[in-house]
Amino acid sequence: MALLTALILTDDDAFRAQTGDALRSGTVPVTMLDERPAAGVVQPDLILVDGREESQALAAIERARAGAPAVSIFMIARTVTPDLILQSMRAGANEFLTWPPDATFQEAIARAAARRTSLSPARPRATTAAFLGAKGGAGTTTVAVNSAVEIARLSRRPTVIVDLKAGMGEVTLFLGVRGRYTVFDAIENLHRLDVEFLRELVVKHKSGLEILAGSDHFERPASSDSPAVEQILRLLTQQYEHVVIDAGNQLTGSSTAALYLADTIYLVTNPDVPSVRNAQRLLDRIGQLGACADRVRVLLNRASEPYPIPPDQIESALGRPIHHMFRSDYRTVSTALNSGVPLSMTGNTELSAQFDSFTRGMLELPVEAPESGRRGALGLQRLASIW
Ligand SMILES: Nc1ncnc2c1ncn2[C@@H]1O[C@H](COP(=O)(O)OP(=O)(O)OP(=O)(O)O)[C@@H](O)[C@H]1O
Ligand SMILES: [Mg+2]
Repeated sequence: MALLTALILTDDDAFRAQTGDALRSGTVPVTMLDERPAAGVVQPDLILVDGREESQALAAIERARAGAPAVSIFMIARTVTPDLILQSMRAGANEFLTWPPDATFQEAIARAAARRTSLSPARPRATTAAFLGAKGGAGTTTVAVNSAVEIARLSRRPTVIVDLKAGMGEVTLFLGVRGRYTVFDAIENLHRLDVEFLRELVVKHKSGLEILAGSDHFERPASSDSPAVEQILRLLTQQYEHVVIDAGNQLTGSSTAALYLADTIYLVTNPDVPSVRNAQRLLDRIGQLGACADRVRVLLNRASEPYPIPPDQIESALGRPIHHMFRSDYRTVSTALNSGVPLSMTGNTELSAQFDSFTRGMLELPVEAPESGRRGALGLQRLASIW
């Protein structure tokens, strides 16, 4: 799936908000650029021009086209007239749409994504997975870290995990590494954030996985840091083939930025009443935020019999299938955690086999180990997940 970076040209905040929601509610992950060129490292793939003021809009399209011959430009006009369509196309627009956005908007975005892929087929495209916990202690970091190690090991492609949890991120701890820098340093130095600088900020694990450590400032990243977080994540998607995000268990501005950007949002829950209730509420909220609900997959962690709530009841309550289950195995998880060694490196356990099959599914690789973790009472199991 292509990831589009979009820029909205308007003076009207309501237009910006509504167009942003429409952009983000589709199946193509879209990240938004601030109108002010910040670090200057990211160019938009798509420019949306508020065309309700026609002459200004046509001039804006001409300028945008002159500056970026390959960018997709959408003219969003108040009304359709053959003359205005012609003028927009002559100025350099690729699509002519009407305000407010309707179904044709999503079709145009899909065309822009296809165009972007055809124009730069060699440009590596990262797959991005965000892990969000239904509640504190659900095992979000355990699942994100062990999946990231498996992805790096199985794919042998550049893979990074980003710890977005404010103050107490534990990704480096789980991996037994110590980074000098954190997400906080990336946010604070956004003006000079480029590929070289980013390389300085990450720390490498022996599996090959690279880590952008969690901030040690309790209140950061804050909601006001979300544009910076979005920009950092976007840059990571240009440098790595796999980006894994530990988004914590709160819907803050920065975790929401991660959800918008992610190809797949893994909601980590446990088979107990508070976790399932919170998962329901988070699913509702993710839908309201406009992040595409089709990109959410439910993961059931600590899933062992006897279940406080059986998996089929959880699926009914959530109205969606459990994508993958990880058994409860405190001994194995805590031994791995205490030694700072990921599960896949601690031996053959059922849990490590479950991580292996989960990540093989993510990478669309054949599953070698006997599958013990995958199920789906709604009959909606998926071997090759999109993510
Ligand atoms: N499958 C599992 N079986 C048994 N214990 C587990 C499992 N997964 C996680 N745990 C344990 O649960 C605890 C919390 O795990 P973890 O830190 O990954 O959760 P979290 O959701 O990231 O928590 P936080 O909200 O603090 O970020 C840890 O002690 C971990 O060892
Ligand atoms: Mg955690």
